[in-house]
Amino acid sequence: MSDRSNDTTVLETESAGVPTPDAETALVTGASSGIGQELAHLFAANGSDVVLVARRGDRLREIAERFERRHGVSAMPVTADLAVEGAAGRLHETIAERRRTVDVLVNNAGFGVYGRFTETAADEEAAMRRLNIETPTRLAKLYAPEIKARGGGILNVASVAGVVPAPRAAVYGATKAYLLSFSEALAEELAPTAQVTALCPGETDTGFMRRGGMAASGVADGRLLDPAQVAQTGYHGFRNGDRVVVPGVRDKLRALLYRLLPRDLMMKASRQTWEP
Ligand SMILES: NC(=O)c1ccc[n+]([C@@H]2O[C@H](COP(=O)([O-])OP(=O)(O)OC[C@H]3O[C@@H](n4cnc5c(N)ncnc54)[C@H](OP(=O)(O)O)[C@@H]3O)[C@@H](O)[C@H]2O)c1
Repeated sequence: MSDRSNDTTVLETESAGVPTPDAETALVTGASSGIGQELAHLFAANGSDVVLVARRGDRLREIAERFERRHGVSAMPVTADLAVEGAAGRLHETIAERRRTVDVLVNNAGFGVYGRFTETAADEEAAMRRLNIETPTRLAKLYAPEIKARGGGILNVASVAGVVPAPRAAVYGATKAYLLSFSEALAEELAPTAQVTALCPGETDTGFMRRGGMAASGVADGRLLDPAQVAQTGYHGFRNGDRVVVPGVRDKLRALLYRLLPRDLMMKASRQTWEP
């Protein structure tokens, strides 16, 4: 029996496989919805060829065809489950077979597991760590040398949940703290030839909340950010050379406050945010 989760498949579209001469290529993971779809749109709208990766092929193909039609770029949809072992290596090979180079890596695919640590499913958390930590790190390992050589960049979608520990999303918060720390260190290593940015959104109106069960938590109570706006801020921050981007005044203040408060008060505030 074949293991479909190990498949990495390029879907055919009109111009897939034919890069636009002299255009940069942005590889965007989690491009089938939410913040990733909006980021991919901004790269395409600004003339970059894009490689779009996620599991839902029907959505990816439709998005790729729209980008090609509207923006005249090449958009290559690739279906892959990035939460399984070896996913990054297979994706890298698949893209290389198509003779694509990658100038910008956008590590966006991710999900959250919500609940008390004593009650959440260990296997689900392990898959989340592979998707939120292992795959982005491995993709960066594979692409950073060529990105540095050619002067491209890496945009990692972390979270405000990476700025402060997140009770009831302890492992999710830790995956984003990892990504934020990794991004800032890598930015220092790859400068000045390549750009590395960590985008740290607060609560945003995407499928993320439903999937992670977070709709029941305090984080879903307040005003949710618009994913197009979050992507826009992240894209401009990345292009401007910012290393950490927190979209929106509310979350900028929150991130600042978390840094200034004594640790016990910071934990109290965070707990209130995450409790149902
Ligand atoms: N929404 C928020 O409040 C919020 C706040 C801070 C940070 N973030 C971060 O933003 C990023 C994007 O999330 P979003 O809010 O835009 O949610 P979303 O709409 O659920 O998007 C998640 C994307 O990741 C893809 N994905 C999920 N599991 C995957 C897997 N196993 N293999 C490959 N692709 C997978 C999904 O595509 P398929 O289902 O088609 O595979 C989808 O394209 C995540 O890293 C999330 O942690 C979100």
